Amino acid sequence: MSPTILITGATGNVGESVVQQLQRQQIDCRVAVRQPDRARFLFGDRVEAVRFDFLDPATFTAAFAGITHLFLVRPPALSKIDQIAPALTAAKAAGVQQIVFLSLMGVERNRVVPHAEIERCIQQLEFPFTFLRAGFFMQNLSTTHRDDIRLHDDLFIPAGTGKTSFIDARDIAAVAVLALTQPGHTSKAYPLTGSDALDYFEVAKIFTEVLDRPIHYSRPGLLKFIWTMRSRGLPLDFVLVMAGIYTTTRLGWAANITSDVEQLLGRSPISFRQFVEDYQSVWRSG
Ligand SMILES: NC(=O)c1ccc[n+]([C@@H]2O[C@H](COP(=O)([O-])OP(=O)(O)OC[C@H]3O[C@@H](n4cnc5c(N)ncnc54)[C@H](OP(=O)(O)O)[C@@H]3O)[C@@H](O)[C@H]2O)c1
Repeated sequence: MSPTILITGATGNVGESVVQQLQRQQIDCRVAVRQPDRARFLFGDRVEAVRFDFLDPATFTAAFAGITHLFLVRPPALSKIDQIAPALTAAKAAGVQQIVFLSLMGVERNRVVPHAEIERCIQQLEFPFTFLRAGFFMQNLSTTHRDDIRLHDDLFIPAGTGKTSFIDARDIAAVAVLALTQPGHTSKAYPLTGSDALDYFEVAKIFTEVLDRPIHYSRPGLLKFIWTMRSRGLPLDFVLVMAGIYTTTRLGWAANITSDVEQLLGRSPISFRQFVEDYQSVWRSG
């Protein structure tokens, strides 16, 4: 039988883990990706991979055929609702019955972020929904900031002394799997964080202990951060989004802790130390 669950963003931080966790439970899914060959390499032949691009409506019909449950990830580069809404309209026409959307913590107070517009669009289209309003991913340190740690033993992050209630993307994925496969999660918005709020001095200490070499937090100012990221060739939009995120951290707005992960999964969220232990090869310089 053809799968009824469709995963977007399946090559990304949360989506990849959603697919892996479904595979572990032997639940079939289809992945909607820009490069199906890459998905087949990642997940093997048991996962059905179809070409899908939010910006190419010709890819929608095959992706949504026979699908009832959709895991929706907004690609970070797509910030306009017009880039996401056509796919949602196509999903509705194809008979999708529930959307589990990877949203953003605090979105209910911040109506200008793209996630707020997407939540509104999902509700306007009258989809039963589950909004996963996630805090700051631990995996940002194994992706965006990986090379500063790996090559320079430095956390080059303009967060001042602000604390962050980091969440492991694998925990968000576990909640997504629950919402996609179990009843009782529609018309719900879950704010998802880890169980500790840490500043980057504490983060550096955990890295130092686990990697067994000194990792510093150089605590750059905002201007130095922007200048350095631009001189590395990162696009201005991306750098400004990062500067905005770390400004909210400096202001203490990223420190809020919720108990939703524990309540939903019946276990503690993955700790920051566990994350660093599990991913340590990523920051080994050899
Ligand atoms: N990072 C955080 O701390 C954080 C916290 C809360 C919420 N969020 C939100 O979570 C979402 C995911 O962010 P992320 O940083 O973790 O990114 P990600 O999911 O790791 O990467 C983006 C994914 O989107 C896919 N993609 C890119 N362009 C696409 C297109 N035109 N059509 C279809 N798929 C496309 C990419 O696939 P390919 O490139 O392989 O095609 C990739 O799988 C974002 O909306 C972000 O705002 C992030």
